[in-house]
Amino acid sequence: MSRIPQPFIDDLLARVDIVEIIQECLPLKQAGHEFKACCPFHNEKTPSFYVSPQKQFYHCFGCGAHGTVIGFLIDYEHLDFLETVETLANRMGIEIPHENRSIGDRSESQLSLYPIMEEATQWYTRQLQQTPEARTYLAQRGLNAEVIHKYRLGYAPAAWDTLLKKFSQHYSPAQLEQVGLLSRSDNRLYDRFRKRIMFPIRDARGRPVGFGGRVIDDSTPKYLNSSETPLFHKGKELYGLHEARQAGAAAPTDLVIVEGYLDVISLAQTGISNTVATLGTATTSEHLQHIYRMVDKVYFCFDGDRAGRKAAWRALEQTLPILADGREAYFLFLPEGEDPDSFIRKYGNAKFQQRLVTATPLSAFFLNELHHRHPDGNMESRAALLEEAIHLLRLLEAPILQELIIDTLAKETLISPNRIMQKLIPTHPFRRPELSQIAPSGFRTIQRTPIRTAIAILLAHPHLAQNLSKWITDPDEPIIHGSNILRELLEIIRINPHISTAAILERWRGKPEYQHLSKLLEWIETEQDEEINIQELQDAFKRIREQQITRRVDGLLAIARNQSLDKQQKAELKSLLSMNSQCRQKDAG
Ligand code: GTP
Ligand code: MN
Repeated sequence: MSRIPQPFIDDLLARVDIVEIIQECLPLKQAGHEFKACCPFHNEKTPSFYVSPQKQFYHCFGCGAHGTVIGFLIDYEHLDFLETVETLANRMGIEIPHENRSIGDRSESQLSLYPIMEEATQWYTRQLQQTPEARTYLAQRGLNAEVIHKYRLGYAPAAWDTLLKKFSQHYSPAQLEQVGLLSRSDNRLYDRFRKRIMFPIRDARGRPVGFGGRVIDDSTPKYLNSSETPLFHKGKELYGLHEARQAGAAAPTDLVIVEGYLDVISLAQTGISNTVATLGTATTSEHLQHIYRMVDKVYFCFDGDRAGRKAAWRALEQTLPILADGREAYFLFLPEGEDPDSFIRKYGNAKFQQRLVTATPLSAFFLNELHHRHPDGNMESRAALLEEAIHLLRLLEAPILQELIIDTLAKETLISPNRIMQKLIPTHPFRRPELSQIAPSGFRTIQRTPIRTAIAILLAHPHLAQNLSKWITDPDEPIIHGSNILRELLEIIRINPHISTAAILERWRGKPEYQHLSKLLEWIETEQDEEINIQELQDAFKRIREQQITRRVDGLLAIARNQSLDKQQKAELKSLLSMNSQCRQKDAG
């Protein structure tokens, strides 16, 4: 996933100390060989968040959050992967190499684009000060100087080339076009935004990466957004997120999602500053993943009309796969024709707060809406309702909430909860990727198998692989669940004998295996004696070997049932059977 060479990440992780980095964010206390603190990712009074200097890994026994220092910074500072690596590299005073030149060039030039956007933001704000017409418009919309300043609102002048002339003094037209400040038609460049109020869209770090522009009269389009640029991706950014995070002394614990720029600003002006807007698009799963990394509770705000309910249903579908237990989603519907901005002007802040308090929980909206879609109480209608419910419940990753919803559905459709539960298991089980078989998702505790034990020990103590060369299995051996991962793990350690746990895990970042592998690490006591670890590892490999032999023997015996084995097969069977009995004898002795 990373465009940064793997050896660089390995090296970076070898130099950075996770304890030192986390110490700057949380007060860590020593506890044996580890350090502990109250978990920053959930609310707690007694510490269950542990940092292991040896594994270079953190783990919370309360909420299950875990990861490497890179994972910590991504979740705690809300940076993306590249930004995190940049931050760590800067800190260590090392330069990031890039895998190939063209990408290196691009990302270098990408960095040089941020100052243009910052300068444009400042320039637009100055234009606003100098344009009475624009200031009058904002005053008519009821915005005060404080929010205008906080959201850095600006104004783009009416002419076709004001910005072009000004900014060409310092920047190339190509760069200005690249960040979306200029547009091109018939090979002529001109100012993309003209005679518009400018709303800078800032990324998680507060850097302006795009703009929304609203006309101040009745011309169209009413809103114009920046095009997609190297800095700006509409489906990813949320308007107002940076400001929401800046607003209070503490980070917000919930966020309200609205549709428009002016809704965000209007609510913030009355003190509801934990508000963000998607940029004229429906809420994407990328938005939600980002949001739920920061808060556990989200309010979706919609018009009460049909379009609003449809949009709400779409939001619900996007939310289901992200909604772990402990995360909440609420739906708030405004009277028809009102948006949050107009509502709050008409009825005031208290009425809006009241709607937040009485907002519909996802589970209730889910059930209500299903009844709405399948209103008849007859069997056909109930079957259709259940069918749709089951399809959606399969997406839901929150087992407790899932059960509660199933209980209610059961009462309403008169089908037992168990039968609904059974229907949740797909009738055509598709092959999951290898590692999910090591730790099937949805299973809270992972059953110990020899392969999982071996993976866990090697992951926690990679250097123990040295003692193992003779155990490394031949690729033609019968595959047992997880053996591919084990083989991959051994290969990584063979090539990088001094690699750390964290650096190994980073190789799986962004893949389903990442979660499962980190989960396996919980088994390993940091303080356990090396001797015991070696012993357990060797035992695990012995068991794996036995399993493989048994598999192969079973395979050969199955063949033998229908046809006689050839000479080679017979010889193999004989040797396998003797190997198996040797293993047993050694075990017994
Ligand atoms: P005001 O009319 O200024 O109150 O804006 P609004 O936010 O109430 O507008 P509306 O409800 O019509 O639209 C909500 C959001 O959709 C806006 O904030 C924009 O992000 C987006 N949007 C609305 N109209 C347009 C348009 O014409 N073009 C584009 N690209 N986006 C639009
Ligand atoms: Mn509006």
